[in-house]
Amino acid sequence: MGGASPYALPPRKGRCVAYKFVAETLEHADAIERVLDRAFGPGRFAKTSERVRERGALLEPGLSRLALDEAGDVIGVCRIWRAEAGAPIYFLGPLAVDPAAQHAGLGLAVTQASVAACRASGACEAVILVGAETFFRPAGFSVVPSGLLTLPGPVNPARLLWCELKPGGLDHVRGDVRAPSR
Ligand SMILES: CC(C)(COP(=O)(O)OP(=O)(O)OC[C@H]1O[C@@H](n2cnc3c(N)ncnc32)[C@H](O)[C@@H]1OP(=O)(O)O)[C@@H](O)C(=O)NCCC(=O)NCCS
Repeated sequence: MGGASPYALPPRKGRCVAYKFVAETLEHADAIERVLDRAFGPGRFAKTSERVRERGALLEPGLSRLALDEAGDVIGVCRIWRAEAGAPIYFLGPLAVDPAAQHAGLGLAVTQASVAACRASGACEAVILVGAETFFRPAGFSVVPSGLLTLPGPVNPARLLWCELKPGGLDHVRGDVRAPSR
């Protein structure tokens, strides 16, 4: 059964990429930048999500998840930030998988691993992100009702998504998405 291997194989399509998930640490910083540059290209810093992060959202490396291949190289990134919108929330992103490892199920799997870490932390009751609802729905995300949340820049309302971490977790989430006050 191969139980000794810490690596999992995404169960999708013809492609198999061996990987394991780890929390982010400082030693991964350069490798993360490389994956983000390769996956997003030059438009990387133009996104409204980037404005949330640069305005004081706090990176949560212990909840962010990296996918490492068998050589220990970073091939996937899903970062989690602590923010606030009427209540303490987590802000998910950027999510990126190295182009050479895409289409094997890794993007969804690393997202699910990060959301599970957020849920286990118990510190916030919801996660929000900007992204495609069709992609993130299997990880528990749905479209935020129009006008409920405001980001510091333009966002297509159909791409503003949230996920509750416990029952009723969305009840108090509303208003401006901003840096946490504590
Ligand atoms: C989005 C991304 C993380 C997906 O990684 P992945 O490992 O290929 O994801 P999965 O294998 O779990 O799922 C792939 C499926 O996701 C869907 N998908 C991928 N990118 C998508 C997008 N931008 N919008 C909607 N759906 C998308 C497709 O249906 C794809 O199916 P396919 O493999 O049949 O083409 C990766 O394509 C990436 O790094 N893209 C560049 C950065 C980016 O756009 N990040 C997301 C920001 S919200």
